[in-house]
Amino acid sequence: MATEKSAIFIIFGGSGDLAHRKLYPSLFRLYKSGILKNHFAVIGTARRPWSDDYFRETVITSLKDYFDDDETIMEEFSKHFFYQSHDVNDSEHYIALKNLAAKLDDQFEAGHNRVYYMAIAPRFFGTVAEHLNSEGLKTKDGYNRLVIEKPFGRDLDSACELNGNIAKAFPEDDIYRIDHYLGKEMIQDIPHIRSNNDKFEEALNNKYVSNIQVTLAESLGVEDRGGYYETSGVLRDMVQNHIMQIIGTIASDNPESDDAKLIHQNKSDLFSSLKELAPDEVDSNFIRGQYDTDKLGDAKAYRQEDNVAEDSNIETFVAGKIEFNTKRWSGVPFYVRSGKRLQEKSSRIDIVFNEKVEELGIRPNTVVTLLIEKEDGNSILINGINYKDAGQDFIKFPEEAKFDKAREAYESLIIDILSGNRVHFTLWDELRSTWKYIDTIRESWDAQQPDFPNYLSGSMGPDAAEMLLERNGHSWIWD
Ligand SMILES: NC(=O)c1ccc[n+]([C@@H]2O[C@H](COP(=O)([O-])OP(=O)(O)OC[C@H]3O[C@@H](n4cnc5c(N)ncnc54)[C@H](OP(=O)(O)O)[C@@H]3O)[C@@H](O)[C@H]2O)c1
Repeated sequence: MATEKSAIFIIFGGSGDLAHRKLYPSLFRLYKSGILKNHFAVIGTARRPWSDDYFRETVITSLKDYFDDDETIMEEFSKHFFYQSHDVNDSEHYIALKNLAAKLDDQFEAGHNRVYYMAIAPRFFGTVAEHLNSEGLKTKDGYNRLVIEKPFGRDLDSACELNGNIAKAFPEDDIYRIDHYLGKEMIQDIPHIRSNNDKFEEALNNKYVSNIQVTLAESLGVEDRGGYYETSGVLRDMVQNHIMQIIGTIASDNPESDDAKLIHQNKSDLFSSLKELAPDEVDSNFIRGQYDTDKLGDAKAYRQEDNVAEDSNIETFVAGKIEFNTKRWSGVPFYVRSGKRLQEKSSRIDIVFNEKVEELGIRPNTVVTLLIEKEDGNSILINGINYKDAGQDFIKFPEEAKFDKAREAYESLIIDILSGNRVHFTLWDELRSTWKYIDTIRESWDAQQPDFPNYLSGSMGPDAAEMLLERNGHSWIWD
């Protein structure tokens, strides 16, 4: 039976896209499973002057896109929703918010717990955190947890500045930086897979691994997010955070316990050993691309998308080789790749073993693939075949990993926030190292004129991505 949680959620950007597409559906799932029941309320805030009733209508309308439940339960759920018009720069508004939160806390007996969720533009994160502190919104008797969406900065300097502003208002232990890949089942299962398969874990090092590949490929283009993408590009949008965190999960030392501090310490140690690139090494280790139209000339090229400059040099594809200076991993390339408008959608980790792995009873050159998006929980392939049928038994999907199946990433992350579990969030130390690494690539790219567009929509990206691996005698497993 689910344990009921109590909290008042204050959602900054409560009228926005993320809130309606991800947060409210996830809260509804938690409501249906009894994790949220009687002792919670959600205050949506944004500038537009909505009434509670109108806000509830928008919540129900968005739920209908995802659920076919009876409307009665949606209406019951929506009675926990309240709207407060609010401009993040106006101190008075924070007082109104504080009073409403206190009133709802009494009404719903929410235990003085507060979750402040930043579903607004990143430029407001620091301002909101500071006001929450200065206007006294933080309660004394319950917890006060600050949830921050990506992106956390756009380079090391801006991330440091943002972190400094937030740290003045909230202790690091109360900050939950979202990387929704860390909410995905397969990513959460990796530590269990590693600790329940001794031979697999024993083989995860430079003696037995030839290379590791992380691919996050999308078939869609930027859709209606061209404006955002112009300020980001795939290097910032996918590599600095999601891809690095995936690598952190598969390559950091796997602690025996679920202790969040230990897990993060190991991840932070790994990231601080990233083999930095000198500016003149960037081009031989990282390549970029931007999508053109497709073979038939039907699809929009990136430069034709809405809110995108006609001569934009923003990359929609990246492939790179990352290395670590640790005893365990030195000499093993981690090839990473992410892009838009690729042939199909795929999110996967391919671990390519070498010949020596035979010593452990694993067939030489075996490839283990962990599929990140598959929903059935059995997403492990050995040489492209489901592990159960592959005729090798060094890796299994452990019973332990089957807990909490079929949860959406956001649902799972919200449970963690309500439970005070920071394992699946990114900590500042980790971000500092990954930004530092990414900045070198960005600076080198920004100083050169790319030859864009350089790959067709519906292809596997630019040819240079293949050459990057061929140079080392390797090739992409997903091809
Ligand atoms: N959408 C996604 O899929 C997605 C995915 C990952 C991360 N994120 C991150 O989530 C955050 C929100 O993204 P979004 O796509 O939901 O954006 P959005 O749809 O543009 O929503 C922005 C929200 O902020 C409010 N707002 C704007 N200026 C404000 C102000 N001065 N004071 C108070 N409220 C203000 C807007 O309402 P008013 O105009 O009424 O004020 C709106 O509710 C961003 O940090 C984004 O990077 C989004």
